[in-house]
Order: sequence, then C-alpha cells, then structure tokens
Amino acid sequence: MKRRRNICVYCFSVLIFLTLGISFLYVVTSHYYYKNTYYDYFVKLRSESHGFKLGDYLVNTNACKIVEMNPFDPSIAVIINEATAQTCEEPLVHLVNGTLMYNDPHDIKEARCCYNEIHRVTVKDYTQWTADWTNRYSFCHLIQKQGVRVRSEFVKIQCKENGRQSRTWTDFDVTVFPPEDHSEETEVKLNYWEKESAKESFIKPPSVLILGIDSISRLHMIRSLPQTRTFLEINDFVEMKGYTKIGENTFPNMMAALGGMKLDDYPCWRTRSTKLDDCPFIWKNFSDRNYITGSVEDSASLANFNYMKTGFVRQPVDYYFRPLAVAYHGNKNREGAFRGCVGGRTQTDLVLKYIQDFVSVVKNKAPYFFWSWFTTLAHDDFNDLRVFDSVFKNNLHKFLESEGDNAVILFISDHGYRFGTFRETYLGYYEESLPFFFIRIPPSVKQRYPSWYKNLKINSERLTSPLDLHATLEDILTLSSNQKAHQSFTHYNWDPGFRPVYSFFEETPENRTCESSNIPKQYCRCGSNFLKSVQNQTLSLLIGTHMINEINGIISEKILNRTCVSLRFKKTLYIKQFAYRIAEAASVSTDYLVAVEASPSDATFEARYRIFSNGQLLVVGNISRINSYQGQSDCLNDPLLKSFCYCS
Ligand SMILES: *[C@@H]1O[C@H](CO)[C@@H](O)[C@H](O)[C@H]1NC(C)=O
Ligand SMILES: *[C@@H]1O[C@H](CO)[C@@H](O)[C@H](O)[C@H]1NC(C)=O
Ligand SMILES: *[C@@H]1O[C@H](CO)[C@@H](O)[C@H](O)[C@H]1NC(C)=O
Ligand SMILES: *[C@@H]1O[C@H](CO)[C@@H](O)[C@H](O)[C@H]1NC(C)=O
Ligand SMILES: *[C@@H]1O[C@H](CO)[C@@H](O)[C@H](O)[C@H]1NC(C)=O
Ligand SMILES: *[C@@H]1O[C@H](CO)[C@@H](O)[C@H](O)[C@H]1NC(C)=O
Repeated sequence: MKRRRNICVYCFSVLIFLTLGISFLYVVTSHYYYKNTYYDYFVKLRSESHGFKLGDYLVNTNACKIVEMNPFDPSIAVIINEATAQTCEEPLVHLVNGTLMYNDPHDIKEARCCYNEIHRVTVKDYTQWTADWTNRYSFCHLIQKQGVRVRSEFVKIQCKENGRQSRTWTDFDVTVFPPEDHSEETEVKLNYWEKESAKESFIKPPSVLILGIDSISRLHMIRSLPQTRTFLEINDFVEMKGYTKIGENTFPNMMAALGGMKLDDYPCWRTRSTKLDDCPFIWKNFSDRNYITGSVEDSASLANFNYMKTGFVRQPVDYYFRPLAVAYHGNKNREGAFRGCVGGRTQTDLVLKYIQDFVSVVKNKAPYFFWSWFTTLAHDDFNDLRVFDSVFKNNLHKFLESEGDNAVILFISDHGYRFGTFRETYLGYYEESLPFFFIRIPPSVKQRYPSWYKNLKINSERLTSPLDLHATLEDILTLSSNQKAHQSFTHYNWDPGFRPVYSFFEETPENRTCESSNIPKQYCRCGSNFLKSVQNQTLSLLIGTHMINEINGIISEKILNRTCVSLRFKKTLYIKQFAYRIAEAASVSTDYLVAVEASPSDATFEARYRIFSNGQLLVVGNISRINSYQGQSDCLNDPLLKSFCYCS
C-alpha cells in the first residue's frame, strides 16, 4: 500500500514536472518565435526622433478629418527587419566626362574591352513589345589604354579576359550631352532662350524637377527616410499631408498628375496596344514653351508607361533614359542585370547621377521639366528603402544647392504598399491611399507671388489629389512666355464628370469631400480613423458571403467558360465599423470596413460595406484585392479581372 502510494506520488510529480516543463518550453519558444526584437530596437531608435502626436490631424476640416496614425504601430512588427545595403563591384572600365577609361591601366594586360553605342529606334509597324523596346547597337569600338571618347549617350561595354580562361563581362553606362550637342530640338530651344535672355524684361521661368519613388506611403517615409525628412522640413519643402491617390496603382495616378485625366477615361488611350504618344502629357506643353524635357525610370518592364502597355513609339521627351534601362534589363524585372548594379553603381545611384548630370549641363542655359521615377529600390521589400536615406538626403542637398532658386522641386510618391502581410492590417489600409508628398517653390517665385506660398501652406492640410498636382503644373506653365500668371483660377476639366480641381497655389475649399475631390470612395481616408472592431458572427457571414458572391458575379463569364474557378467564402479577417461619416446618406445606415479570405485561392479582399436599417447591403466603391495574385491569374490580361480570378 505504502509502496503504491509512493509510486503514485512519484507519478504525480513527474506529471507536474512534465506539465511545468512543457509550459515553460512553450512560453520560451513562443516568445522566441513571436517576438521580433529588431522591431523593438527599431521603434526605440526611430520613434524618439520623430514628433508625431496621436490625436493630431493631417486634414481637419468640417468635411474631412484624417487623423495622424502611429507609424511604429505593432502591426509593422510582422514585417520590419534589418535592411541590407546593396554593394556593387568596381567595373573594369568606367565613364568619366564622356571618356571611357580602364580603372587601372594595367588591367589592359588582363582584359580587353570594347563598347557599343546604343541608339533608340523609332519602330514603324510597332507592337506592344517593339514600340518602346527597340535599340540599335553599333559594332564594338575597342577601348584603348589612354581611353576613348564616347559618341553616344548610352553605351554597352564588353570585356574579355586575355589568355585561356577568357571570362567575359558586360556592363552599361550613360553620359549626358549638353543641349547644344544633344539633338536638333534641344539646340533650337537653346537658341530661343539665348534670344529671350537678351531682352531687358527677361525673367527666367522656373524649372520643374520631380523625383518620385514608387509605393511609399507617408508613414513609410517617416519610418524609412528620417534624415531626408528632416532635411526637407528645414529647407522649406511643404508637405501635402492630405494628398490622396485616385487610382489603384501608379499608372492612373500618373495619368492624372501628368495628363490631367481621370481614371478609366483616356480618350487618347483606348486599349493596351494603343501607343501613349497622343496623350496630353504636360511635358508637351512645357516643351512647346521651349523647356528642355527629360524623364527617367530605373526599371524597363515595370516602367509606368510600359508595364502591360505599349508605351511610346516616338521618344516623348528630349532626354529619355529608357533605351539604357531596356539595354540593362531586357524585359526582366529588376535583378535581371548584374544583381541590380550598372556601371559599378546601384540602379538608384545611376539614375540619381543621370539627373545630377542633366541638371548641371542644362541649368544655366534653359529652363527644364524633368520627371523621374524610382521603382526597383522599394517596390517589393518593406525594409529596403531605409538603406537609401542618406543617398536621397545627399542628392536633395545637391539639387537644392544648385537649383534652389531655379526650380520647383517635388519629392513624391503615388500610393502606399498595395499587397502583402502588411496591407492586410488596418494600418496597411490607412497608408495605401496616402503617399508622401513634398514640394518646394523657389524664393524668387515666392516673392513675386506671395499668395501662392500662402495658399500652398493652407492646402498642405487640405484634401488634395494627383489631379490638383496637374493643375499646379499648369500654373507653373503660366510663368513662362508673356502670359500672365494665373490670377483667377478655374481649372475645370473638359470632362463633365469632373469635379473642380484646384492648383496648390489657390486655396482648396474648406468643405471639400472625397467626392468633390474626384477621389473614389475606396481610396477615401476621411473619417476612417474612428473605426472600432466588431465581433458579430452573423454579420461576418452575411458580408463575407455577399462579397464573394459579388466577386463571382464580376468574373461570372470567365467562370462559365471555365477560365476561372468559382470562389468560396473561407473566413472574415476583420470587420471594423466606421463610427463617423461625413456628408453621405446619414442616419439610416452604418459603414463597415471588411476583409475576407476566399478559397481555393486564399485570396484576401477588402471593401467598405454599407448596411441600411432595412437590412440592405451595399458595397461602397470597389472591392480591392489585398494580397498578391502573382501566378494565380496568368490566364487573363485584364488587370481588374486578374485580381479576382483563380485560373482553372
Ligand atoms: C570632369 O569635368 C568637370 C567639369 O568639366 C571637371 O570639374 C572634373 O574635374 C572632370 N573630372 C575628371 C575626372 O576629369
Ligand atoms: C497643353 O497642351 C494641350 C494640347 O496641345 C492643350 O490642349 C492645353 O490647353 C495645354 N494646356 C495649357 C495649360 O496650356
Ligand atoms: C462648398 O462651399 C461652396 C461655397 O461656399 C459651395 O458652392 C459648394 O457647393 C460647397 N461644396 C460642397 C461639396 O458642399
Ligand atoms: C449582428 O449582425 C446582425 C446583422 O446585421 C444583426 O441583426 C444583429 O443585431 C447583430 N448582433 C449584435 C449582437 O449586434
Ligand atoms: C472564355 O471566353 C473568353 C472571351 O470572353 C475567351 O477568350 C476564352 O478563350 C474562353 N475560354 C474558354 C476556355 O472557352
Ligand atoms: C470599379 O469596378 C468597375 C467594374 O466593376 C470598374 O469598371 C472600375 O474601373 C472600378 N473602379 C475603380 C476605381 O477601381
């Protein structure tokens, strides 16, 4: 008996011990797995230096309130990580002041290099894959020991090791020719400005320099570019805090900003195979006023006007970087060439150098309009942008030194992250519509048009959109030629569906709503700050199944003919109730933000739902896909349908 009791005590202790041990292990491992210590470190490092205040507003008018959110919210812990800087190898030859030289003249014993001139070809019978993709390469000119002056803007460099091994290297580089040597067009423009500047009344109109990074929300800029931000703030850049996207991705927002066109209505561009040459891009107006024009995008295939589009048949601007991007990328996405390095630099550094060189050869001779867009550095990875903080700060510093009183400088983005783990959080929803946006007008313009600066400051806390940016560029245009600068502003567009647009230099109405700003409902962030989570199984099922039915309805034709499979409701990720709504059908309804997961694709979707007191359901705006559909919908081309379809 005693012995039995002893055994039992023994069993019991072992059991307790095991239970404790397992619990302990569980606590330790779960701590280990779920705690992101880098996040803690990051928050400590950054949040002290940034003075955001919860409860502050980006926009605080009676018609629209957008609250400041915490950029270091725990929702980013799932995704924040250490960033790694990209390093590039020294190339065998490099291009300095138009001359290709061996890095070390002794290298010539090791290897021989030659270069091809690269020229863009205007294709007569173009297709989507030839129009903006065709280059002509000259034969390969030998590079002598003493170096060789290049005769084309863009070059391909090929090296072959001497001796038996005969390894080969390929590289690319660019040199910017001054406008007098660049083309007939730029020479003509230069002559115009020479004559103009001889006149006594001549005042040189300001240049426009736009630097844009793809997919960076305002909060992500706060997280990633703190030095750059501080630099902008102390140098009189004005932040447009209520700047809201009007289209899903880069293209519609650029069509608005550069062409003044609204989503889904491009009379100049009806199908993907139509060239974009006939669209009314504002650089054409600047060019008509003899501005020298230029554009650069680091990526060839993800480029704004070329991703799933035909792009331009004729070169659209005077200085057009694209042929080089086509040469170094082929039609690969980004890493394609040399782990992202070109001419011994990262693609970001290469493009920045191109812009610096452009500015330095043009600035004292003629005003210019220059648009640049950086896609490869931060499009896919949440952490990569941080590495470029000092790079952008230093470059903006240089631009300001040389162009501070010469150019209107914009440092902007188009939208926040659109896909992935982070986008599936509420902060991701909030950020997606609110890109960072900074603009600085030169002191001389500020002095001549004091109301412009005054209004700019007021508008920095009003609701604004890419269409307003277009109106702003139109105002800058009026500073050239003899035309009077805009005094009374009426920027009504030709499109009757348009609500009025306002240049940043006139006061944007206090009572502006998303609707009266041309901002589609699903991108509107007015009032989205007072959300509270809802736990209601009935509601969850009701909205979840409704959303999936809606989606199946949109792709019904494709389901019927077995291109896509019919989706089923899997679960609701969250339901959040808008506690606050402005100037829309008032008391009889409630709005919810709902995210839903579908099977079999595991696709996640999000939409704003309105439920009326009689039980009726309405999708407000459109349903968005919020995780990546890469590889799931290759059977379709239509970008809208692609986001819903799971190919059979
Ligand atoms: C390139 O040219 C600039 C201006 O002409 C000059 O200041 C610079 O020293 C030159 N660089 C080299 C490496 O020759
Ligand atoms: C820009 O050019 C287009 C086409 O030539 C013209 O219709 C438009 O009025 C111009 N815009 C301005 C602001 O001059
Ligand atoms: C805003 O106010 C102006 C005049 O004060 C008025 O004409 C306009 O209709 C108002 N807009 C909205 C959207 O309420
Ligand atoms: C849950 O949602 C349903 C459908 O809208 C509603 O009828 C019900 O009252 C809600 N339940 C609670 C507890 O709020
Ligand atoms: C389904 O219809 C589309 C046109 O709507 C057509 O392009 C496609 O080939 C059809 N697919 C099948 C499997 O019939
Ligand atoms: C909304 O969806 C419709 C089709 O359902 C589409 O034509 C339209 O372009 C979409 N609008 C936006 C803003 O995505």
